[in-house]
Amino acid sequence: MTDSGAIGLGTTLSDRYELVAEVASGAMGEVFEAFDRVEGTKAAVKVLRAEYLADESMRRRFRREAAVLKALDHPAIVRLLEVGVEADGLVFLVTEYVEGETLAQRLSKGPLTLGEADVLVDALCGGLGAVHEHGVLHGDLKPANIIWPTQGAPRLVDFGASKILGLDRLTATGEISGTPAYMAPEVLSGKAEVDQRIDVYGFGVVLYEALSATRPFHDGHVGRLMMKIDAGDCLPVDAVVDVPGAIAGVIAQAMHRHKHDRYSDMGELKAAWQQARQG
Ligand SMILES: Nc1ncnc2c1ncn2[C@@H]1O[C@H](COP(=O)(O)OP(=O)(O)OP(=O)(O)O)[C@@H](O)[C@H]1O
Ligand SMILES: [Mg+2]
Repeated sequence: MTDSGAIGLGTTLSDRYELVAEVASGAMGEVFEAFDRVEGTKAAVKVLRAEYLADESMRRRFRREAAVLKALDHPAIVRLLEVGVEADGLVFLVTEYVEGETLAQRLSKGPLTLGEADVLVDALCGGLGAVHEHGVLHGDLKPANIIWPTQGAPRLVDFGASKILGLDRLTATGEISGTPAYMAPEVLSGKAEVDQRIDVYGFGVVLYEALSATRPFHDGHVGRLMMKIDAGDCLPVDAVVDVPGAIAGVIAQAMHRHKHDRYSDMGELKAAWQQARQG
């Protein structure tokens, strides 16, 4: 522990995980590469940012992330190794370290090919399908929360904004956790009940960006951005990049502004994608 009580480089947690490098500093947590002294392998350790240590709602989100990861076991979802608790009650998450780059980093070099997008669809529709079967919604799909590994399937991380189906109701007064550019209109408005179709939508936005390296909706002004999302005011992806119309149609349906007009679940989205790829 450092003087401030915060966890930092050089800290060893559970007498086992030695924090050796900073990987990322996100909105909610800090992620470190750790050396697991017992296994002699790399691990990833996520801790709540120091400024949120006393914030009960952030602590709750963090515990939620731990509980959700604990319940999931799927090749496309980052594997939880340990939930650690320090003397002060601070929780930290230890997951497998996924060697590679985030999809966001990958896309900064250019769009995916359709063949690479097939791999993404296959992995993430499977992974998200498993998440939904557990009654959980990811709630924050975006390229920075998907790791494109040097080996194995693309991996979903960051369940810090996840919701439990039927338990969490988003209301206009409730906090919105997630990233607006990828959020479904009903999440932004807080008016409707949310279900797995918020992830169908979010993954549609991810696919749009994956194929074009551009976001469907962008506006520096968050109010205008939300209005564009609410109106579904974006170019079809085949107007931005040369992809088959059938593929653009699948993406448009996944990110339809009305949830009733989207695919009902990840399996339906995957089937439509595969059919469009064969056609
Ligand atoms: N298991 C892992 N292996 C390797 N890198 C990881 C792992 N988990 C997370 N990362 C990296 O750390 C970054 C932040 O992780 P995560 O999204 O879980 O934190 P966060 O604080 O909730 O982020 P934000 O709120 O900004 O979305 C990821 O974008 C990824 O680059
Ligand atoms: Mg994240």
